[in-house]
Amino acid sequence: MNLGIASDHAGLELKSKILEFLKEFIPSAKVIDYGMKGDYEVSDYPDYSKVLAKDISSHRIERGILICGTGIGMAIVANKFPKVQAVVVGDEYTAKMSRSHNDSNVICLGARVTHWERAIEFVKIWLNTPFEKGRHQNRIDKIRTIELGIHA
Ligand code: RB5
Repeated sequence: MNLGIASDHAGLELKSKILEFLKEFIPSAKVIDYGMKGDYEVSDYPDYSKVLAKDISSHRIERGILICGTGIGMAIVANKFPKVQAVVVGDEYTAKMSRSHNDSNVICLGARVTHWERAIEFVKIWLNTPFEKGRHQNRIDKIRTIELGIHA
């Protein structure tokens, strides 16, 4: 699986922990780190979310993990890009349902609101849950038409 990960300053520490987890638990995964990389005091989440989301849109990567203080800013930006289903996840059930019903391809985590061990648990569930397709695929198809501006 090709994965991407990015954070702003608020998510930097959690990003490192998730990168370690990914290395250990899915050693075969190719993971692109989109930053931030330095220890800057302040950074702007749109700068990191947009580069990852662009690569989801173009199919360079299959799934992305975005981390900021709440996950919210990252999700707002990522969802501006076609074919991106970015979701803010704050519990196990949402982690699972965002995959099985919504085919989410980007998980957004809040480092200031979620303990790192729990965040890793959400990532684990999210990576392991398949999309159910069927009637849920019809709904995703409707999202695609909205993106194209051809909805009624
Ligand atoms: C940065 O202070 C914070 O606003 C950002 O990490 C994020 O939570 C925005 O949604």
